[in-house]
Amino acid sequence: MNDPSSSWSPRSWREHPAAQQPDWPDEGALDAVLKQMATMPPLVFAGEARQLTDQLGQVARGEAFLLQAGDCAESFDAFGADAIRDKLKVILQMAVVLTYSSGVPTVKIGRIAGQFAKPRSSPTEQVGDLVLPSFRGHLVNDIAPTDAARVPDPQRLLQAYHQSSSTLNLLRAFTKGGYADLTQVHTWNQEFVASSAQGRRYEQVAHEIDRALRFMAACGVNTATQPNLHEVDFFTSHEALVLGYEEALTRQDSLTGRWYDCSAHMIWIGERTRQLDGAHVEFFAGVGNPVGVKLGPTTTTDEALALCERLNPDRVPGRLTFISRMGAAKIEEGLAPLLAAVRNAGHPVVWACDPMHGNTFTTEGGHKTRRFDDILAEIRGFFAAHAAEGTWPGGVHVELTGDDVTECLGGAEEILDTDLGSRYETMCDPRLNGRQSIDLAFEVAELLRG
Ligand code: PEP
Ligand code: CO
Repeated sequence: MNDPSSSWSPRSWREHPAAQQPDWPDEGALDAVLKQMATMPPLVFAGEARQLTDQLGQVARGEAFLLQAGDCAESFDAFGADAIRDKLKVILQMAVVLTYSSGVPTVKIGRIAGQFAKPRSSPTEQVGDLVLPSFRGHLVNDIAPTDAARVPDPQRLLQAYHQSSSTLNLLRAFTKGGYADLTQVHTWNQEFVASSAQGRRYEQVAHEIDRALRFMAACGVNTATQPNLHEVDFFTSHEALVLGYEEALTRQDSLTGRWYDCSAHMIWIGERTRQLDGAHVEFFAGVGNPVGVKLGPTTTTDEALALCERLNPDRVPGRLTFISRMGAAKIEEGLAPLLAAVRNAGHPVVWACDPMHGNTFTTEGGHKTRRFDDILAEIRGFFAAHAAEGTWPGGVHVELTGDDVTECLGGAEEILDTDLGSRYETMCDPRLNGRQSIDLAFEVAELLRG
């Protein structure tokens, strides 16, 4: 990975074709920002990234489950304590449901504190009668439907850095400062969730956890002094798409001498940028963080094996996560050969299921959406493929929000086509709302138990 004798450096990606990079209008202005960023404090510490690798190593060995969840695209406009807290609440709730129902520890990673850049299928998009340069996430340009708003602006890199920093600060405060305390399980259930069937089912789990804690106390276990009951390890991640930004936050760890991308604990490569000879794979090969790669339906076994060799030549469990996203109809057939090939080659990969990105479509009313049933069907296919190959279905990777939005169809409180317009708030892909997320956690927990 970080072989000092190799030709890798934080900027060696520049010698490779880099897909999906913004067309910055002024290279000088970009360089000035990147130089400034390179002097700013890292957002995470390399030791934390190593802890996450260890935890993901447990997942690779089939001893833990990964829950990676959050926004499709974070926004510069929806940035407040409540939104961060509510997203964290839903993820904590899902993790409690998964852990309590399956008995397997849950590794928690947010798509948060840096998830600002979006790959696009086309460089332009139609908004009403206008054809505009595509919105590429708030790291790059603005979503407003004007040509001026769509011009990439390097000042946004700095704003993303600062927003990531304050988001991470609040997440650390919540997860280490008492908010994520297991005695608080009831308070994570938001009003609009609590009133639903899934919310009541969650409440039942929360009651049982209370009883278990009281039982332990009655047996003489001093629960007050058990840090595991009062603090949670919560990690950050994003698609490391805009490589100049990632390079500027890459630092040499003073303890080990290795390079880490200190913009997040984990970073991943998207489906559109995983070319073996491309800049993203080159950059990822040299950083010590745990890394992910999205695998779409066209992925071949040769590509998967080459990614393993390139990104995890030392075969460190937890270093590499493959996130399949093939669509409900293709997952079983598409995934099984990859599982077999990677297993036979002896590569310790974490397998996670992104049941969102292969199941997106646009309604006649013009809303990009996903059906809850398709999402579940892809997860079921993912579990079935693992059962057939004798491998561990390591986790799920989902887009969600704590808010009461209407972006994905279906779920127990059925959201219909005609409901989508009422609270459709995402800047990019449709997200599960709080109720649908809890619903999903119960379904996944049942699959894990099975
Ligand atoms: C995403 O995770 O938001 C995304 C764009 O995914 P993919 O690269 O799998 O299409
Ligand atoms: Co998305």
